[in-house]
Amino acid sequence: MTENLVFPRGFVWGAATSSYQIEGAAKVDGKGQSIWDTFSHAPGKILTGENGDIACDHYNLYEADFQLAKQLNCKAYRFSVSWPRIYPIGHGKINLAGLDYYDRLVESLLEKGIDPYITLYHWDLPQSLQDKGGWVNRDTAGYFADYAAALSRRFGDRVKNWITINEPWVVASIGNVTGEHAPGVRDIKTALHVGHHLLVGHGLATQAIRATNSSANVGISLSVNPVEAATDSPADIKAADDEWNKSGRWFLDPLFGAAYPPKVYDLFGHDLIPVLPNDLALISQSIDFLGLNYYTRTVLGSKGFVNKVPGSEYTDMGWEVQSPALYRLLMKLNKDYNLPPIFITENGCAVTDQLTLEGQVHDARRIKYMQDHLISIRRAMLDGVHVRGYFAWSLIDNFEWQHGFSKRFGLIYVDFETQKRYIKDSGYWYAKVIQHNEVHK
Ligand code: FCB
Repeated sequence: MTENLVFPRGFVWGAATSSYQIEGAAKVDGKGQSIWDTFSHAPGKILTGENGDIACDHYNLYEADFQLAKQLNCKAYRFSVSWPRIYPIGHGKINLAGLDYYDRLVESLLEKGIDPYITLYHWDLPQSLQDKGGWVNRDTAGYFADYAAALSRRFGDRVKNWITINEPWVVASIGNVTGEHAPGVRDIKTALHVGHHLLVGHGLATQAIRATNSSANVGISLSVNPVEAATDSPADIKAADDEWNKSGRWFLDPLFGAAYPPKVYDLFGHDLIPVLPNDLALISQSIDFLGLNYYTRTVLGSKGFVNKVPGSEYTDMGWEVQSPALYRLLMKLNKDYNLPPIFITENGCAVTDQLTLEGQVHDARRIKYMQDHLISIRRAMLDGVHVRGYFAWSLIDNFEWQHGFSKRFGLIYVDFETQKRYIKDSGYWYAKVIQHNEVHK
């Protein structure tokens, strides 16, 4: 059956990246060290032994990259600012060369009719702040607000949309429980402090942006994996519900309900989250949009995680391809919370791309992945969920954290030896989706 799903006029079509994953220029123009510079150079942390010192050299090649984004018809581009480029030690003296760099980015985008969406924190914390405890130390949240204000003052006249924190759950859990991400800590108590202070930082930064720029739209991007039970058995349903409390609800409830879910306390213990009297009001102040990053679902039963669902397709990350779960997630969130408009701030997949001799990449699996997810989104919109835009992850192949350059998520292929770019079939396909404002099934 052929189905054309037309999106509303003004739907925001974009692509996303983050600073550490693409910029390179790790020690240039006064930039300070970030926890990812440290972590990626520590032996054994990155599975391929690589680091982001050069990455996509986007620091120098941004103009060409934005030409390509324009060729893909992108109307918006989500990028993150590297905090240590602006404040090399996280606070104190500002590094003007860092601000100037992002000014060049913003100008280049605007010239091409591409609307910049800025993420303030996509994981590259200044190392000096980590040395004082990082997000465990509440001062970090205050410095984060100062940094937000500095960016808002400089760019607020040209940048309307601001994302405070990218994926607090990943920062707390993967950075501080499993230790697979920087700073590589393995301690649940640390993670709970980190999670709370990220939310406090979000609240303070929201206020700081609004104080300097009253027409700004401010939001946060959450990684929300829906947790689905392996079977209908009560034990499996309970296991899935517990996991949902520990993951999605850990951040959604304080943001949109001014309270941590009671089960978080049952699961983690009562005195572990350092909540001061005004914190939950600060965290739950109204925001202009919710960013959702969606890649896969989690399937769980009382016997543990189900890592291979029979019949399911998996990506190079080992993540199940599950577009119907995105529809169900959007419907559930819309029912359970009183949400502002939603942007899908990341969605995409890593597959094994082959560059042909003619410089083409036939990534049919990625096209199918994006098509199916866009259809789920459009269906949820038709069923009442307010989704305002979609950002493909990612504009270009890049440094995929602990996996180094081994996982390619881009619409554009990067040859990391030569720094040459090649638009993949998915990029050409996405350009057409944007041009016609519709997906075909
Ligand atoms: C998300 C991150 C993003 C990228 C994708 C694949 O969790 O926000 O930087 O690594 O996963």
